[in-house]
Amino acid sequence: MVQEKTAWYETPVIKDMMALMGGRALRGVMANYLSSKIFVGKAALLRVTRYLEAMIDKQDRRALIITDSFTQKFAKKLTDYLDLIEMEYKVWSGAEPEVPITTIYEGAKICEEFKPQVLFALGGGSVMDTTKMVMVKYEKPEANLLMILPYFGSLGLRKKMKYFIAIPTTSGTGSEVTPVAVITDTERDPPKKIEVLADELCADITILFTDFVKDMPPFLTMATGLDAFAHAMGCFVSNWGSPFTDAMNSTAIKEVVKYLPRAYKYGSKDIEARDHMQMASLMAGIGFGNTIAGIDHSLGHSFGKIFGVHHGLSVGLFLPYSIDFQAKVTDRWRALCPIFNVKVENKGRDELYKEFLQAVKNFIVSLDGPICVKDLKNPVINKEDYFSKLDLLAEYADDDAVSLTSFRTINRKLYRTIFEYAWDGKDIDF
Ligand SMILES: [Fe+2]
Repeated sequence: MVQEKTAWYETPVIKDMMALMGGRALRGVMANYLSSKIFVGKAALLRVTRYLEAMIDKQDRRALIITDSFTQKFAKKLTDYLDLIEMEYKVWSGAEPEVPITTIYEGAKICEEFKPQVLFALGGGSVMDTTKMVMVKYEKPEANLLMILPYFGSLGLRKKMKYFIAIPTTSGTGSEVTPVAVITDTERDPPKKIEVLADELCADITILFTDFVKDMPPFLTMATGLDAFAHAMGCFVSNWGSPFTDAMNSTAIKEVVKYLPRAYKYGSKDIEARDHMQMASLMAGIGFGNTIAGIDHSLGHSFGKIFGVHHGLSVGLFLPYSIDFQAKVTDRWRALCPIFNVKVENKGRDELYKEFLQAVKNFIVSLDGPICVKDLKNPVINKEDYFSKLDLLAEYADDDAVSLTSFRTINRKLYRTIFEYAWDGKDIDF
């Protein structure tokens, strides 16, 4: 039974407190540098399974592999190694896109019966986020998923199971190294995306192996790649960074700009590009996961959920507006100009910024990504329908956790105007 009603960041006391403090008040107070142990390449599966063999007694070696109807085809690549160490396993392919809360309860029930010591998340962002939440419900059945307070205290996970191991099959979400899960509250009409944050949600081990991503179709390559791009860009320009996260984000941006066009164009024929995009996505995950995503994500979450648009495509579309909004109060974008071949010398701020923003837009368009709502092809959105939903779009974006920590203070009215401008690509003039 679903018991959750209101997310922690939607409660008036938290909203009022954050509005008073402003997002920038939290900078430095909540710095953390979380990541999983990362194993990369062909030998990664063998190394990790040998580690499990050494750490878990034979009678306790049980693994639940959480996957979905698309990624279950990869399970054999993993189970071959589990057979090697005589680990009993179950494959559950019940994860669904956008992580409806009901699927979390289903997964937790399977855990209760099977009692795994290891949870493998084998899939894209939704599979990894499902696994995070299944872990919480298995370990703490009484937990209200929407009221898990980040930053203070610990949940006390990993008492029933020992390891959460993430194997991403897309390159973009970064969920394999973040303490964040995005789930869908299906009890609301229309359903709403909800962020859950807790340090213990970060995977213990991540396995990056290009065999799991090389056959991604072009659309998925582009859309998930734009997600990584938005993580790193939106976070970098929002002024929360430390030298650690700046290094992660700026390198991720460089890598995406260089390798995403190749991965999109050549697919499985360009393993080098796949390899670099896996790492770029992971680095962007560490970058934004240890600070906060830009408002491209609050805009994208709202838009994506209400109009049924892919997450990466949604946040990619709103990234130029997110940068434009923050650029009124920060010059952080300047440091990124060389990555886009924008020459900084002998230019005034306005001229330079205009060129930079155009270069970002050009990059998205070069991948056949949309930069305004009216140009979206998958799905095509009706203008009247879009404008009739501006209030709801603004409400959902404003109620997003990302809004609380925006470097520049944002509110529902400003969100509404941004959504209005995004119809045909108008620059932010406020
Ligand atoms: Fe994202």
